[in-house]
Amino acid sequence: MSSPHDDVRLVALAERTVATFEKAFGASPAFFVAAPGRVNLIGEHTDYNDGFVLPAAIDRYAFMAVAPRADRRVRLVAADFGARSMFDLDHIATDGTQRWSNYQRGVAWALQEAGFPLAGLDVALSSDIPVGSGLSSSAAVEIAMAYAFQIAGDLAIDGAQRALLCQKAENDFVGMNCGIMDQFIVSLGERDHALLIDCRTLEYSPVPLPSGCDVVICDTKKRRGLVDSEYNRRREECERGAGILQVSALRDVSMDQLQAHRDTMDEITFRRCHHVVSECQRTLDAVDALRGGYVARFGQLMNASHASLRDDYEVSCAELDAMVSAAWDMPGTLGARMTGAGFGGCTVNLVDSASTDAFVRGVTQAYTRATGIIPEVYVCQASDGVRLID
Ligand code: GLA
Repeated sequence: MSSPHDDVRLVALAERTVATFEKAFGASPAFFVAAPGRVNLIGEHTDYNDGFVLPAAIDRYAFMAVAPRADRRVRLVAADFGARSMFDLDHIATDGTQRWSNYQRGVAWALQEAGFPLAGLDVALSSDIPVGSGLSSSAAVEIAMAYAFQIAGDLAIDGAQRALLCQKAENDFVGMNCGIMDQFIVSLGERDHALLIDCRTLEYSPVPLPSGCDVVICDTKKRRGLVDSEYNRRREECERGAGILQVSALRDVSMDQLQAHRDTMDEITFRRCHHVVSECQRTLDAVDALRGGYVARFGQLMNASHASLRDDYEVSCAELDAMVSAAWDMPGTLGARMTGAGFGGCTVNLVDSASTDAFVRGVTQAYTRATGIIPEVYVCQASDGVRLID
């Protein structure tokens, strides 16, 4: 189901992909698939520690116009930058020049590895999720592609399995060692809700977003540098901490236990563990706050999450800190923090709806003054996960 706000964006994406499809392939598409981006409200760098996350799918999409083929070829055309790529389902290799196509290739590879019989597809793709801003544009492409194969082949794959297969594509084919959060929320998001996801069991439950508040995304326009190498380093530091604490993942550690072991680990490892252990608890507390109607409390937990990511986990940067400070200075801000992997990208803010317009103007001005960069700020709607579009 789409909201009226969604419809404008989806129609624009449909028009662009249909025109590109017809020009590239000389035929009409058979169906359309849209997969949303995501924003994480709280629970950052916890997914690969088997912990808890609270993301929402947003009203920005990777959109595909698709037609099944009778052979084993997959032909891709990118409407946004006029590039093409083609591969054969019997020989799937990475494309070093058309790197954007490696997500689609990886998904085909992962589905076949899992034993799903695939047939070829013609696909035109367009996306209005900004690339490199930490809103999961790549997970959206992966999930849209998996869903396209599913629809074309009538394959029985549930939302969680789809997420796991796409995570495998990203880990083992593309080579980015991400956790499960992004693919999971893109696959299973629910309109007007965030999802509390237990990243160990993959149990999840929808949490209604509070009325009277807006979720506002502020894009620093600082593209995420360093993220791959530092991300992998954080994962290693967490694994080292779990090893010292003799647990399979930091999810199993309480703050008391961690404090009791402080002398057994170096300062950096301790701080990394401190972030993860405190963030898992903050995420559960944040869900209780939302369910209990304590929005101000929820906002305070977001603020504490930012401080922990900045000081203990060290994945923020000057631009993210400037954007968060600008938000904290605005009346009507309930909470503000960096969101996603860090080192650039976006912040997520919970703002009293009566103050939203002033927030957008004020934060844009203050951030531009502080950094010289003009940000993009927009109010997002929590949307459904991947779906067919009529
Ligand atoms: C990236 C990864 C996710 C998650 C976040 C940090 O978005 O893809 O799996 O680890 O960073 O919370």
